[in-house]
Amino acid sequence: MQHDLVIKGGKVVTASEIFVADVGVSGGKIATLGSNLSGDEVIDATNKLVMPGGIEAHCHIAQESGMGLMSADDYETGSISAAFGGNSCFVPFAAQKVGQSVAETLSTYDGRASTKSVIDYSYHLILTDPNADVLAELPGVFERGITSFKIFMTYATRVSDAQILDIMTMARRYGGLTMVHAENHDMLTWMSSALVENGYTDPKFHAPSRPAIAEEEAINRVISLAKLTNAPLMIVHVSTPKGAALVAEARSEGAYIFGETCPHYLLLTRNDLDRSGKEGAKYICSPPLRDKNTQSILWRHVAAGTFSVVSSDHAPYRFDDTGKFANGPDVDFRKIANGMPGIEMRLPILFSEGVMKGRINLNQFVALSSTNAARLYGMHPFKGTMAIGADADIAIWDPNLTKVAGETHDYVNYNPFEGMEITGWPVTVLTRGQKIVENDKLIANPGDGVFVKRGRTDLSGLTGTHLPETDPIYNFGANIFT
Ligand code: URP
Ligand code: ZN
Ligand code: ZN
Repeated sequence: MQHDLVIKGGKVVTASEIFVADVGVSGGKIATLGSNLSGDEVIDATNKLVMPGGIEAHCHIAQESGMGLMSADDYETGSISAAFGGNSCFVPFAAQKVGQSVAETLSTYDGRASTKSVIDYSYHLILTDPNADVLAELPGVFERGITSFKIFMTYATRVSDAQILDIMTMARRYGGLTMVHAENHDMLTWMSSALVENGYTDPKFHAPSRPAIAEEEAINRVISLAKLTNAPLMIVHVSTPKGAALVAEARSEGAYIFGETCPHYLLLTRNDLDRSGKEGAKYICSPPLRDKNTQSILWRHVAAGTFSVVSSDHAPYRFDDTGKFANGPDVDFRKIANGMPGIEMRLPILFSEGVMKGRINLNQFVALSSTNAARLYGMHPFKGTMAIGADADIAIWDPNLTKVAGETHDYVNYNPFEGMEITGWPVTVLTRGQKIVENDKLIANPGDGVFVKRGRTDLSGLTGTHLPETDPIYNFGANIFT
């Protein structure tokens, strides 16, 4: 068989296997895994790793923040940066504004994404105003192939526990996944006010203003809500040892609880917030950076499988008056834009600090960077793996290439990981068989990426929770989950 493209002689890595093979691509899909394959075009992958392209499942692109500030990256710059970082697909957020319908929200984001992305994309729908009319729109959202929701327990955009129960119930009914930013809002606002009222306004006070216990409390509470509804839940950007332990414990009980952490919690610390001048503002993100001890515990949870995904939480705001200092140059830490860029650095960091330093193996790297996201966000098996019939979303990596992290392709004018020596970089990235990036050059055009219609969350391996009070056999026949 003559293929459109053959990737020759590389080491193919999936979430469970490693083998040397040629990969034959035809019609945008993986057609053959074998040897001596022929194709119209050939990429020599000798001494390279051939892996599923990354799926970036947590990034803020062309999205207004809780403060109302538009992210620096749109779908063009965000997707290009993602591609240079080894990603073939990403799932940013479509954020509902209070009072807005879901239909309006999605059409706004369709307008922002459709002609711009160089890689395939979908959205997680952020729900900030889940009133009865909005909940009634959700079955149609699932039909459109948008099968994950995000909610906040803090910020002005937070929802109540009762609203979380409503949203989780809907997600469970239709096979979707709720994602949550878990921090106790009142603890944070109380701490922030106490600090500012006492004159502690510098960027570094962002760290104590959002104490670990505020994350731990919220994670514990939201896991309880998920257990009550027996609904699947993804706790995003877990930054604390106790938060991770709560996720691990719930998973060991069979609950449909999943966890995510991010490279910045694994590599940076609260001391970065104390850099000279205003530099600390670059490192303001929420939850905040913690300490060295936290890093080593989080790494162990990455290795042990507590976390299903390592995502960037790319929340891009420039280090100038359009971004970090949009509220003025001398405002207190509460008014500095929250978030850090990282979409391009996520996978090189996970590879260099994870695989090369022996903290995780190659199969875990693939699971954490692509396959688990595909399973949880309804794209498996057509994305996130190297299997016959799957989309040829492929990243070819040079595991021996060492570079010092510097400028990236996003629209943010700083890189929080600048100066770090990183070994292992993607050299060629394909989406559905089309080259997007090759040897440091962008090959694709805006609009080449297409919307991905997603399916149900894969819950295999967990049994769920069945509380006696929600079981008609025990609760006098009341069947509340129909
Ligand atoms: O600081 C962050 N992470 N900003 C983006 C919004 C969020 O909390 O995810
Ligand atoms: Zn968040
Ligand atoms: Zn985020």
